[in-house]
Order: sequence, then structure tokens, then C-alpha cells
Amino acid sequence: MDTAPALNSVFSLAGRRALVTGGAKGIGAAVVARLVEAGAAVTLADLDTDGAATADRLGATFVACDVTDAAQLGAAVDVAAGDNGLDICVNNAGIFPTTGPMQSASDDFVARMLEVNVRAVFSAAREAANRMPNGGAIVNMASIAALGGGAGISAYSASKAAVVSMTRAHAIELGPQGIRVNAIAPGVIDTPGVQAQLEPLRASGIDIDKRIAANPLGVAGQPDHIARGVMFLVSDLAAFITGQVLVIDGGATA
Ligand SMILES: NC(=O)c1ccc[n+]([C@@H]2O[C@H](COP(=O)([O-])OP(=O)(O)OC[C@H]3O[C@@H](n4cnc5c(N)ncnc54)[C@H](O)[C@@H]3O)[C@@H](O)[C@H]2O)c1
Repeated sequence: MDTAPALNSVFSLAGRRALVTGGAKGIGAAVVARLVEAGAAVTLADLDTDGAATADRLGATFVACDVTDAAQLGAAVDVAAGDNGLDICVNNAGIFPTTGPMQSASDDFVARMLEVNVRAVFSAAREAANRMPNGGAIVNMASIAALGGGAGISAYSASKAAVVSMTRAHAIELGPQGIRVNAIAPGVIDTPGVQAQLEPLRASGIDIDKRIAANPLGVAGQPDHIARGVMFLVSDLAAFITGQVLVIDGGATA
């Protein structure tokens, strides 16, 4: 039997190298902050150049990167991996424009949702895994929208359900290389991205502002609630956990 590490050492990520996509703000920025706090060398990749200021503030390295662009993604993963390889990849970048009624959703709209939320997550997982010679941990940001349908967000729901399936399949394939792959399914979290969707969601009959605290705990979902879950999944506390979806929603789906 393996010797169990001391609990306080399990929380340290000193010496580990991490990539967080979409880390300029919202959930991604909270994840960057926690990874840095735990001692990891963190690269923040985002197409929003405000990410440079976020990285400066948090002690991370910023790479301007659209995750759908193969060259930019490859360059970001290279920076994150350094010479000795990557240990942690958090595939957090995602978009969630309101679909509206499915009968009027265009093919271009659906294709863009899948391009960013599915295809680019697959590519980033592949590029990360190819730079994890010592094993590692990948966390994909799914959503509770993957677990149950919702009117007005059908393209988003489909994209996040694909992330869940991809997570399970990659976990099975990468397990023999010591790479764990898990997903987090956040409930409604108060982020700039959600704030930007309040009006279109209301028009679709979803009062997202009310839903932010509509859970048994009655607490508004904050980015750090999700970051804490990421810390669990990337740490050795989760050494025997792979291919799973951790729901963090204040009990909204209980
Ligand atoms: N906030 C929520 O309620 C909620 C709930 C469930 C899941 N999620 C998921 O969590 C993740 C983060 O959500 P958030 O609310 O923090 O979003 P946000 O919009 O506040 O931040 C997302 C970040 O990703 C970046 N990004 C978007 N497209 C990109 C691309 N092509 N390349 C690089 N960066 C890109 C944005 O510039 C932004 O900085 C998303 O995948 C989202 O689907 C959020």
C-alpha cells in the first residue's frame, strides 16, 4: 500500500506547472489565484488582453490566446509547460450566449458554441496531455446545464454535455499515463460573463439574477466556490479520482 502523504503537504502545489484557459476574469481568475496561492507556476491564457493585468495582480504569466486558434493554443501550452512539462490544465474558457428558442437558432450560432466549448477543449486537453510526461491533472469546466436541459440554452447545454462525455473518455485513455481528467459542473456563479447575459436570459424567461442564490444554501455562487473544487481535483487529495463530474451548485440540483 502507498504511504499516505501528510495532509498539509497535499495542499501544496509547489513545483507544479499549471495552465488556466479563460483566466482573465470570472471563474478562471479565481482558479488562477488559488493555484498561485498553493505555489504552482501558473500561465493564464485568454483572448481578453485584460488578462495581462489579472496575471500581474495574481502573480501568474499571461499569454494572449484564442483557444480555438491552434498556433496560439500550442504557444500557450508551451509557455505553461516550460522545459520539464505541464502538471495541471484547467480548461475553463467557454462562452454562453443565450440560444433563445431552438427553432430560431442558426447553424452558425450552434457551430460557434461547439467550436469554443467542445472542439477547443478537446484540442487543449490533447496539447496538455502531450506535454505531461510525469502525469498530471486536467479539469474541464462543464455546467449543471450538461446534466438537465434548460429552455433557451439548448446549444450551451449540448456543448457542456459533450464536455462531460469527453472528460470520461479522456480519463479512461489517459489513466495509464498517470493523467487524471475530471470535470466540474458549476451552478449559477456571479461572473462578468453571467452579468452580460442577464437581459437576453430574461427575454428567454430565465431570471438568472434570482437563480444566482436560488439553492438550498441560499448563498450566491461565487467564482471562488468553483476554484476550491478545482483545488481539490488537481491536488493529491483526489489522487484516486478520475473521469468524474463534481457538481458545485449550493445544492441547486439536489
Ligand atoms: N458563471 C456561471 O454561472 C457558469 C456556470 C456553469 C459553467 N460555467 C463555465 O465556467 C467557465 C467560465 O465562466 P465565467 O462565468 O467565468 O465566464 P466569463 O465570461 O466571466 O469569463 C470567461 C473567460 O474566458 C475567456 N474566453 C472566452 N472565449 C475564449 C477563447 N476562445 N479563447 C480564450 N479565452 C476565451 C473570456 O475572455 C473570459 O475572460 C465557462 O466555461 C462557463 O461555461 C459558468
